[in-house]
Amino acid sequence: MAAAAPPREARRVTVLVEHDVDEATTTRIRCTATPPADASSADRDAAVADAARRALRVEDDSLVDVRWRRADVATAAVSRRRDPKALPGRAFATLAALDVKGASLPLPARDAVVDGNHAAATAATPWDGGVVLAAYAATRPELFRGKSVVELGCGAAALPGLAAALLGASVVLTDVDEAMPVVRRRVDSVAVPNVTVAALDWRGGVGGLAADVVLAADVVWLADLVEPFVACAAALLADGGRLLLAHQTRSTAVDDALFEALARRGLACSEVPRGDLAPDFRPDHIRVFEVVRGGVG
Ligand SMILES: C[S@@+](CC[C@H](N)C(=O)[O-])C[C@H]1O[C@@H](n2cnc3c(N)ncnc32)[C@H](O)[C@@H]1O
Repeated sequence: MAAAAPPREARRVTVLVEHDVDEATTTRIRCTATPPADASSADRDAAVADAARRALRVEDDSLVDVRWRRADVATAAVSRRRDPKALPGRAFATLAALDVKGASLPLPARDAVVDGNHAAATAATPWDGGVVLAAYAATRPELFRGKSVVELGCGAAALPGLAAALLGASVVLTDVDEAMPVVRRRVDSVAVPNVTVAALDWRGGVGGLAADVVLAADVVWLADLVEPFVACAAALLADGGRLLLAHQTRSTAVDDALFEALARRGLACSEVPRGDLAPDFRPDHIRVFEVVRGGVG
């Protein structure tokens, strides 16, 4: 496609958005941008890029390559962030530790690296969903005392699972094989009792594990993660068990698939009211869901 100078006259621009979600997945959508009439070429490009990011609900640091087809049609190619370790929506980037039942749970250093595909590489850094879910768990000690807990996709921080252990649960922290070194390093660095570690890839069954409570934070953002994740959570949950899921929307199509897959397995999903989340840990971009078998528990 020839890159032409963006024409100045069109106020309403149709944007054809291509999103490079990961190496294997591209999504295509259409949206509109309305640059101001007197905008410079750079400002018109910026308006198109902003419209594409908003439509995809991706973060401001995503790269967007804008090309113009006509005065009123542009193509926006949105690719993964320039720095794969950069955290979108890092509401808690400066948080040093989380208080759980009088104990201080430090956040890990942000220097971990996990080799592997895009999904596994995300295990290297602590995400806002994990912080929000751990803080919420700390407000619900009765859910964890004496219970068996499995955290799925715990990553380098494993905050929800570690918080559950501090609240009296017996916890298995799990993630893909490639992430095990950072998860083990994490467990070794915090003196939290009743925590074990196990490699668990949702695509390979649950290996005999079961849980009263399953915890998962920011683990579903690609379409092909939905079915394996939901199947794994459903297989883990004992009767009467519950999944607490912190979720950050990155694609409404993925969200729809997630809620549909939960319902198909008889798992009832309700959002925890924002006002019930821990004070100071209620960012707009994270929602917490409580998922139970066969009805609200
Ligand atoms: C965005 S990170 C979130 C990490 C952590 N829960 C947090 O909130 O900081 C997504 C996590 O899901 C894990 N994950 C992705 N695909 C997985 C799979 N097929 N099986 C198990 N874990 C997976 C990644 O390894 C990573 O730890």
